[in-house]
Amino acid sequence: MKLKVALLPGDGIGPEVIDEAVRILKTIGELCDHDFEFIEKLIGGVAIRDCGSPLPVETLDACFASDAVLLGAVGAPRYDDLPPDKRPEAGLLTLRRALGGYANLRPVVFYDALAPSSPLRPETARGADILIVRELLGGLYFSEPRGFVVEAGKQIAAYNTLRYETYEIERVAHIAFQAARQRRRKVTSVDKANVLETSQLWRETVTRVAASYPEVSLEHLYVDACAMRLVTHPQRFDVILTENLFGDILSDEAAVINGSLGTLASATIGGAIDLYEPVHGSAPDIAGRGIANPIGAIASAALMLRYTAHLEQEASDIETAIRQVLDAGYATPDLQSEATRCVVGTAEMGQLITEALAEIV
Ligand code: NAI
Ligand code: MG
Repeated sequence: MKLKVALLPGDGIGPEVIDEAVRILKTIGELCDHDFEFIEKLIGGVAIRDCGSPLPVETLDACFASDAVLLGAVGAPRYDDLPPDKRPEAGLLTLRRALGGYANLRPVVFYDALAPSSPLRPETARGADILIVRELLGGLYFSEPRGFVVEAGKQIAAYNTLRYETYEIERVAHIAFQAARQRRRKVTSVDKANVLETSQLWRETVTRVAASYPEVSLEHLYVDACAMRLVTHPQRFDVILTENLFGDILSDEAAVINGSLGTLASATIGGAIDLYEPVHGSAPDIAGRGIANPIGAIASAALMLRYTAHLEQEASDIETAIRQVLDAGYATPDLQSEATRCVVGTAEMGQLITEALAEIV
């Protein structure tokens, strides 16, 4: 298998965690005889510093010449005074738009070893393993018309539109069902069909798509009920499929089950080029100290193997290695609790996961 990866480490802890993701990818490449090629480019504050733009043309060209993009994080405090469209974060927003991914995937797993940092009781959360598939390019955040109503110089109202085209629902539903096929074969489609017409269309369309995946079961759930059950019965979910606004909220809610920002990974797929990135930001408060948690970046690399390279075994081997190292009581400082036996830095954590992986493969 040949895979060309554009690496955009970015700012703050981005380069520190991406180094560890690359270490894992190189190891799995050697162990399983895959040819992973890396090309590294600038984005964010470092790109402003060296090229005067948060997303240089050269970076975008390299992304489009690759099979996937693996990004660290962007954001550096010294650029906080710039106008929003010139800041490091603008580079990432422009990149996401250019790549065109319409499905945002956020896996949330509960690790027994991190139970002390989860707000849920271990008996409630144990075994939870959820994949949230969020529609990313439509719905309330993008539909027109939108705006303010001004009368006699005074704002008297504001409005947004929630519109979904059938094709937008179909394409993200296919992603959710395909993902469920590789998991526990259950999709929960989340909507508000008792109130919203867009949700009625959502429900009908998802039901129609489900007919192409007879091995996957489908249930529909109202978003308010889903919000409750995520924290009362998280184990009941496999894949959650939902629209942009609901997905934004539910994915952050689900993230607390895991208990740690540093371990969360994401994929944005369906567009021209797939984009993989940890959920956390550039963490300027701990950057440069070698203590950042690389698990979110490493787990993002695993998602890249699963969804772009279709290397399911390799992806799940990396996830198993992460779990084993956590179970053995190793933790970066952000994960430290009474269950921790040994606190390690970024590179040590990456090395431990690599060693565990070599045993598994
Ligand atoms: P943040 O995620 O960078 O940090 C929040 C807190 O979590 C900090 O205390 C940080 O030390 C800790 N943290 C985050 N990732 C960690 C890791 N891997 N290991 C250990 N601890 C970790 O969010 P914050 O502070 O709101 O933003 C900092 C900068 O990052 C800002 O410039 C912001 O715009 C940017 N940002 C970028 C994102 C991206 O590139 N996707 C996402 C979120 C924020
Ligand atoms: Mg959010």
